[in-house]
Amino acid sequence: MDPRYAIDDTSRIITPAMLVFSELLDENLQQMIEIAGDPTRLRPHCKTHKTREVVQRQIQLGILKHKAATFAEAEMLADAGAPDVFLAYNLVGPNIARAVRFVEQFPNVAFSVTADHVLPICNLGQAMDSTGSSIGVLLDIDAGQHRTGLPVGDKAKDLYRLIIETAGVEPQGLHVYDGHQHQRSREERRVAVLSEWEKVQQFRQDLEAEGWPVPRIVAGGTGSFPIYAEMDDPAIECSPGTCVYNDAGYSEAFPDLVFPPAALLLTRVISRPTVDRVTLDLGYKAVAADQPAGQRLVFPELPDAEEVLQNEEHLVLSTSEADRFQPGDELLAIPRHVCPTSALHKQVWVIQNGRLSDRWDIASRDRWLTI
Ligand SMILES: Cc1ncc(COP(=O)(O)O)c(C=O)c1O
Repeated sequence: MDPRYAIDDTSRIITPAMLVFSELLDENLQQMIEIAGDPTRLRPHCKTHKTREVVQRQIQLGILKHKAATFAEAEMLADAGAPDVFLAYNLVGPNIARAVRFVEQFPNVAFSVTADHVLPICNLGQAMDSTGSSIGVLLDIDAGQHRTGLPVGDKAKDLYRLIIETAGVEPQGLHVYDGHQHQRSREERRVAVLSEWEKVQQFRQDLEAEGWPVPRIVAGGTGSFPIYAEMDDPAIECSPGTCVYNDAGYSEAFPDLVFPPAALLLTRVISRPTVDRVTLDLGYKAVAADQPAGQRLVFPELPDAEEVLQNEEHLVLSTSEADRFQPGDELLAIPRHVCPTSALHKQVWVIQNGRLSDRWDIASRDRWLTI
């Protein structure tokens, strides 16, 4: 096993467990800053770790702007001391009132959200204005993923005008997430990202020609932020998420980005049902099941392992090395998708200098905290 993942004593670790290797986490944070050029150019997404202690490490490194997808994440960020929180999510239903409560509860946090439709902008404006407060809104642009947002053009421009004219909301720029850009080659990715970016640039110039402010453009994830980071544009804020822990999926998808996996799963053998099978306590309640069955994990110490059956609390591996294992033996596994995996764990077990040093709550895995 890679010596960076050595642990001197695992006897207190209840499996299946998510472990965070402190030095590797620091290495990834440092590398993220190096790629961005400066911590002030970053607005990392907390969805990967959902953990106060990770946010506090980022703040210590000078990363003050943060991004979230849920109110629980936004609240966790504010609790951890983040002075600037962007909830990159379109608010509907009770989330409109939650925005008002958030602003009341955290008056010193710069808070902003996304919008891509008239209705939430009007509802949000009304709710904020009636309490004498206001909220920043970034217009969500569809840069080709077709998940949320508007394509650049007249409709998007009309909506930006509405944000400007509506009391209780303030225009704060554009949100451009391009998580569909998964080209393996950095050069091909760059061409695809830049082709969308040119349209966004044109659109931004149209807005500015009207005299409208476009103070920031929050752009990119792990695969594309190095491309935005190369641009000399103070409005750009890079918003990677996954690279903080990284996972087997992104290690395979982006060979140009070498972030070591910093969060692994510790599992124990619970049975040896046949000569070539090893059964682990690593069911899909402990690792994200958004990946196809059979492809949810990588076992660095057991490269020929095939995931032949997974239930809620069981994972059956087929391996030519099955006879080396007996109940209680341990294995480390790299999740293929770490972000939804962390949502399945109450805490991470922190390994520092090869020793269990702490446990951190994965505080915002829940849908709500207090707001
Ligand atoms: C809106 C938004 N921004 C940023 C990110 C971070 O991207 P990545 O996980 O590729 O680093 C995500 C990931 O899902 C996202 O949905």
